[in-house]
Amino acid sequence: MIEIKDLHASTDGKEILKGLTLSIKAGEIHAIMGPNGAGKSTLAKVLAGDPSYEITSGEVWFKGQNILEMAPEERAHLGLFMGFQYPLEIPGISNVQFLLSCYNAKRKAHGETLVSEEQFQSILEEKMDVLEMKKEFLDRSVNEGFSGGEKKRNEIFQMAVLDPSFAILDETDSGLDIDAMRIVALGVNRLSSPEKALLLITHYQRLLDYIKPTFVHVMVDGKIVKSGGPELALQLEESGYEDLVGVK
Ligand SMILES: Nc1ncnc2c1ncn2[C@@H]1O[C@H](COP(=O)(O)OP(=O)(O)OP(=O)(O)O)[C@@H](O)[C@H]1O
Ligand SMILES: [Mg+2]
Repeated sequence: MIEIKDLHASTDGKEILKGLTLSIKAGEIHAIMGPNGAGKSTLAKVLAGDPSYEITSGEVWFKGQNILEMAPEERAHLGLFMGFQYPLEIPGISNVQFLLSCYNAKRKAHGETLVSEEQFQSILEEKMDVLEMKKEFLDRSVNEGFSGGEKKRNEIFQMAVLDPSFAILDETDSGLDIDAMRIVALGVNRLSSPEKALLLITHYQRLLDYIKPTFVHVMVDGKIVKSGGPELALQLEESGYEDLVGVK
């Protein structure tokens, strides 16, 4: 579903991704772990199409298309979603307006009829149940004044509504309380399917108790230096990066 080949990316003249290769098939869940500053969020943002990064070489194929030439919204319409490590606030635009415009933009791009606000309500309600979201969040400005954990949960709510085929979740677990993490993880599991793929960026093994990864990768200094199964996350938690991959 997604093929990243020898990807190099820089910002402000500094190379951050230094030859990253990763292949994710439909039905798989991949987790990326790695020390602070390794380039994990950069990878997520580059895949989503953040224009602040310059791709100096490499390729990214998603559903058979080279997406590096595509605008962020085209990538989204193709089924890519990214949950931010630091979700943005959008004052003056309610969650419901924001979601409806994203939802309809995707439908329009696929030549489908647009849904009305009324029709959209039933879609929202179903997803709100899954994620145990409070109704009042729909009418509040996107993420404005939300607590850290509420913002993270709102990212997953957006994902649930947009129903992407490939989602990248950047530290969605950071800042969630114990119950919220369980609810979010259950929600993510309910949304996954053999046709979809997921890339989880996380620092903690705990999330992987709830969302079972097919593969775990360790990223250091802009590249993947080690890959394995779920046991790799457990080993990392025990021994840390220094012992396992020689990071000081
Ligand atoms: N504009 C910039 N100029 C210089 N360096 C930058 C710039 N933007 C990002 N970096 C650097 O790129 C590196 C990778 O950052 P990134 O946010 O991708 O790391 P990360 O692996 O997500 O870390 P964390 O685990 O802390 O979230 C960091 O060292 C960061 O300081
Ligand atoms: Mg990060």
